[in-house]
Amino acid sequence: MFDKKTVLTGVKPTGTPHLGNYLGAIKPAIDLGNRAENHYMFIADYHAINAEKDPLVLNQKIKEVACTYLALGLNPNHSVFYRQSDIPEITEITTILYAYTPKGFMNKAHAYKACVDKNREADKPDDDGINMGLYTYPTLMAADILSFDTDIVPVGKDQVQHVEIARDIAGAINAHYGKELLHLPEYYLAENVAIVPGVDGRKMSKSYGNIIPLFDDDKAIKKAVFSVVTDSRPMDEPKDPDSVMVYEIYKSIATPDQLKEMADGLREGRLGYGHVKNMLLDAIINEIKEPREKYNYYMAHFDEVESMLQEGASKARPVAQRTLKRLKDAVFGR
Ligand code: ADP
Ligand code: TRP
Repeated sequence: MFDKKTVLTGVKPTGTPHLGNYLGAIKPAIDLGNRAENHYMFIADYHAINAEKDPLVLNQKIKEVACTYLALGLNPNHSVFYRQSDIPEITEITTILYAYTPKGFMNKAHAYKACVDKNREADKPDDDGINMGLYTYPTLMAADILSFDTDIVPVGKDQVQHVEIARDIAGAINAHYGKELLHLPEYYLAENVAIVPGVDGRKMSKSYGNIIPLFDDDKAIKKAVFSVVTDSRPMDEPKDPDSVMVYEIYKSIATPDQLKEMADGLREGRLGYGHVKNMLLDAIINEIKEPREKYNYYMAHFDEVESMLQEGASKARPVAQRTLKRLKDAVFGR
């Protein structure tokens, strides 16, 4: 499905990732990019300034996200890896798209509506604290996508609407000028990506404070793994593996053989919670050992990452320049 396609992935710089981010988003995105004929992967830093106003914090988060993807296997020789703000054509294209973006689309966009709902709940004016960056964010996202003649945008459920907005804007422009100036993208919603539970059994999320960190030291990872909820059933009591939270987390990382070993041990009353936690810990550490070293290396040698990003930008820019020229020629009748 992806072999002859142009796939584009955007990531917001949101800080150091946890195991759920890795297994649920980062790993699938990298795998999919590797299967695509053309893969664009970018850090959505202009999107991030809508929320993060401290340049030091922002810079740190951008570095972290860049190093995370490289450490976890993004291949910059295959994937064109760049920062959004290094491609000024994207923002120029955004300006042209604005003229074809009904304001109603923005009113209906989830991110904006969620902020309005929050304000209403707190008895504040609808638009309290909402800047134009957040309000018009789907148009910038449309430009991110349309600039590169993207076929497929892998997304989570919350982003489907934004890709549809991009299609609608592109469709309106194409219809107006009577030719395919912009390529219509499709979203790809991965169906079988598991939700990784956190140490308390709810979805692992930084907002719940229940995460297993990815790039912390062994001690911190051990602490998190040993805090996964258990009950007071003794070791020799046979247990249904699906009633054991450690097993639920193990499912997302273990090989089928490892998983069977844990399941059999629990069913037969041979493995206690201490044992299964150690098995989970070993699996996590084994999976992240190498990426963690790479991550620490890249963070300490960011100049190398910076050159990769510059090289990515130099590959991406000519493509966005061609799209911009096509649009300007049509819009200004040149
Ligand atoms: P958080 O919930 O920690 O704030 P984000 O909302 O920043 O995480 O999610 C970033 C990406 O990681 C999203 O694509 C999301 O679907 C994925 N993700 C986050 N938590 C999990 C989880 N527990 N299991 C699987 N995927 C997850
Ligand atoms: N809006 C996406 C998110 O919140 C990030 C993003 C920005 C993006 N531009 C994009 C994703 C273009 C895919 C394509 O996660």
